[in-house]
Amino acid sequence: MNLLTLNRSEFGDPANESNIPSLEEAENLLDEWVKNGSLKRHMRQVGMLMKAWAKEKEQLSAQEQIKWEIAGLLHDADWDQWPKQHCRKIVEELESRDVAPSIIRAIASHGPSHFGVEPKSKMDKMLYAFDELSGLIHAYSLMRPTGYEGMQPKGVKKRLKDKSFAAQVSREDIRDASERVGVDLNELITFIIQHQADVE
Ligand SMILES: [Fe+2]
Ligand SMILES: [Fe+2]
Repeated sequence: MNLLTLNRSEFGDPANESNIPSLEEAENLLDEWVKNGSLKRHMRQVGMLMKAWAKEKEQLSAQEQIKWEIAGLLHDADWDQWPKQHCRKIVEELESRDVAPSIIRAIASHGPSHFGVEPKSKMDKMLYAFDELSGLIHAYSLMRPTGYEGMQPKGVKKRLKDKSFAAQVSREDIRDASERVGVDLNELITFIIQHQADVE
């Protein structure tokens, strides 16, 4: 069993489901915990993807959209300062703040092969699906002279096949996540290209 395994599958208290941190509270936590600018941008990108997906593809209420966004925004909050406690630290912090369990659970299951928690809800699965793919697409944008402009899914797929490109990005997680969520890889890639370009 690896260090990061959380060893449980229930998170938070169901009585807290309506307790959604404000965006300001989430940003404050990021400012406090995350000094690494590119890691912060990664979380902002995933947060914005989650929100956009909840709104455009799932047509969820404004309140649900914020839950999705907060889960994306905070999913790696502990990675900068406590890599060996990655996931456990943020999960326990949010539990101590009585945060909605659906948000905590989505964060806890963003890497099933690392943390041993299976993504169940659509929110869980989308966070898992966006995480690595968003990172790879951002890395690709940095090596293109025009950044995101004119980027095509075909180019992204080529980089996915080239295992030496952004080698730390798990191709297996990307394949597994897209399969679990039942969304075609092309659709995921197109959505990410369209939505994350403007996130600073
Ligand atoms: Fe992570
Ligand atoms: Fe991440």
